[in-house]
Amino acid sequence: MSSILLAGGAGYIGSHTAVELLLRDKDVIIVDNFSNSNPNVIERIERLASKRVKFYELDTRTSEFEIVFKENEIDVVVDFAAYKAVGDSVKEPLSYYENNLCSLINTLKLMKKYNVNKFVFSSSATVYGDVKVDMLPAREDYPRCATNPYGNTKLIGEEIISDIGNADDNFNSIVLRYFNPIGAHQSGLLGEQTNGVPANIMPYLTKVAIGELPFLNIFGDDYDTEDGTGIRDYIHVVDLAIGHVKAIERLLKVNNGVEFFNLGTGKGYSVMELVRAFSRASQMEIPYKIVERRDGDVAMSYADPSKAKEVLNWEASLGIDEMCRDSWNWQSKNPNGYDD
Ligand code: NAD
Ligand code: WQD
Repeated sequence: MSSILLAGGAGYIGSHTAVELLLRDKDVIIVDNFSNSNPNVIERIERLASKRVKFYELDTRTSEFEIVFKENEIDVVVDFAAYKAVGDSVKEPLSYYENNLCSLINTLKLMKKYNVNKFVFSSSATVYGDVKVDMLPAREDYPRCATNPYGNTKLIGEEIISDIGNADDNFNSIVLRYFNPIGAHQSGLLGEQTNGVPANIMPYLTKVAIGELPFLNIFGDDYDTEDGTGIRDYIHVVDLAIGHVKAIERLLKVNNGVEFFNLGTGKGYSVMELVRAFSRASQMEIPYKIVERRDGDVAMSYADPSKAKEVLNWEASLGIDEMCRDSWNWQSKNPNGYDD
């Protein structure tokens, strides 16, 4: 029986993708070393989909990973396995290059050895770097430029995939550039678990809302935007997961080499707008302080998602209110994340 392998599938985006695939009757194999996730997620995925998942606790950089290819017939590999914290990547560049690139290379080598030639890669809007405001919304053919080691791993990852596509006519890949994923599964069973003080805005906001953190720091209100705070293209994680389903369906249908797609809503919201939307959803006032800009932040980032609509027949359907509602639902029902 053939199946879809999700490397890093126990994580935030991978777990939501697993559910959407299982609900569409795909067989799913998850490989994860739980370096940034929790074993309890597997049971929750199975509960939501009423279906079993084949699971291996493995590091995708290691030779042990080969067993997954030996034991299964795999149609498509989706690679979520990576470290993702920009700030940590600046402090520990080697560990980011090592994990994100060695796992990618090992996965691609095993795919070649076992003649698996369909690959979905988690890339990021970070590859657009500091897009000039008059160039927004960002399109897939824009020049790329990373501004930190994490972004470099995505940029180099994209290059590796393109080079393999150029060398091997049988290799097909869809590279998905996510904008800012937030939200959670509507059931409240799946969401984003963060360890320590969150770097990203939504998990920080939800921790302020449950009283774990005293207030939100808003990084700068002097950007050249309507209210002075930074603008981002937030996308609901379930919409993102469905984007993966569409990418997999395309790979199973056509052989089109390597293709790149933005996954975003195309609409930008400022930090202040997000805080207001979250207050509406949680019926709570969120205390905040305006502080200095954060190093490396851009004023605005939002996608042109029209290529994904045209080619993948995908577009985001959930708006900012649903994103805030579901993030809050997850956090309030799981104050300790997946930890019992
Ligand atoms: P996540 O940390 O929740 O998920 C990644 C999963 O991979 C985790 O379960 C982790 O344990 C696992 N993992 C990491 N290294 C591994 C290894 N060597 N072997 C086996 N498992 C390993 O992150 P996420 O938010 O779900 O992101 C998934 C992918 O999407 C990542 O590649 C990330 O860089 C990319 N991405 C994320 C965002 C975001 O804001 N969440 C935005 C753009 C791109
Ligand atoms: C969003 C907005 C901040 C925290 C990062 C990565 C990117 C991608 C997604 C992986 C900005 C402001 C934030 C806070 C704030 N990840 N903010 N107070 O920086 O757009 O993107 O995550 O690929 O690569 O760079 O996301 O959620 O950190 O910030 O005011 O405590 O919220 O300045 O305007 P970012 P973010």
